[in-house]
Amino acid sequence: MIGNTAEVSPAPPLGQTGGPLGNPTTEPLLNVRDLHVHYGKIHALQGVSLTVGKDQIVCLIGANGAGKTTTLRAISGILAASGGEVVYQGEVINAVAPFDIVGRGLVQVPEGRRIFSRMTVAENLRIGAFRQKDKQWIADMEARSLDMFPVLKQRFKQVAGTLSGGEQQMLAMARGMMSNPKVLLLDEPSMGLAPLLVEKIFDTVVEIRKQGVAVLLVEQNAFLALQIGDYGYVLETGKIVLEGSSQALLENAQVKEAYLG
Ligand SMILES: Nc1ncnc2c1ncn2[C@@H]1O[C@H](COP(=O)(O)OP(=O)(O)O)[C@@H](O)[C@H]1O
Ligand SMILES: [Mg+2]
Repeated sequence: MIGNTAEVSPAPPLGQTGGPLGNPTTEPLLNVRDLHVHYGKIHALQGVSLTVGKDQIVCLIGANGAGKTTTLRAISGILAASGGEVVYQGEVINAVAPFDIVGRGLVQVPEGRRIFSRMTVAENLRIGAFRQKDKQWIADMEARSLDMFPVLKQRFKQVAGTLSGGEQQMLAMARGMMSNPKVLLLDEPSMGLAPLLVEKIFDTVVEIRKQGVAVLLVEQNAFLALQIGDYGYVLETGKIVLEGSSQALLENAQVKEAYLG
């Protein structure tokens, strides 16, 4: 049905977080406010605002080149913003070093997995806990990660490059969980995977949230993402053009036409 306007909001004015209704979370962990990023003269992000609340799965959907990865990299501190603020747990973190951002619990799982293919599964997982010296803490995190991704238990000593695509994605997510995140930023976890594995990956995203970790989920597979998500933002050429509850976005005519096929 067209015009679910009561629940889907148009993009908010620049600098304002949330549309008329906005993300209804009562406990925001991450607030991105009017974020701008330039690549030289290319104005890739043109005032992106979004909120991720505790216990939420928030979807960021958009076509190739819309600026999804750029948004995540700017949040993680890997890219410098040319304007706007990233507020995490009430603190502006624009100038915080990327490894400190990870240390505070804001952890990105990059597009294309980026696992270390010549290292074992075990070694890849340890890298996720690189800031920790406490052996017991590392062991506990490892046990939790392996419980979430049992297939990695069987592959523990195996060289990561020999894993299947789906297993590599699980390893990348497990490595992220080793950093004990409060918010996990997932960049296209289902990319390039067969349908059965895609479902499995989305199941584990739900599992991650059950562990008390909020998720900002970047996906081209908008239909599946919105099905497990609480709230969503639609990004087009560097701007949020629409936001709303996942349910409202799934029913929105524009979203249906452009992203749900
Ligand atoms: N390193 C870069 N240098 C110049 N332009 C870039 C770079 N990375 C991304 N871009 C451009 O920024 C825009 C957003 O890219 P990206 O964030 O990767 O989009 P998405 O993840 O949504 O596919 C695109 O137009 C892309 O070509
Ligand atoms: Mg991308």
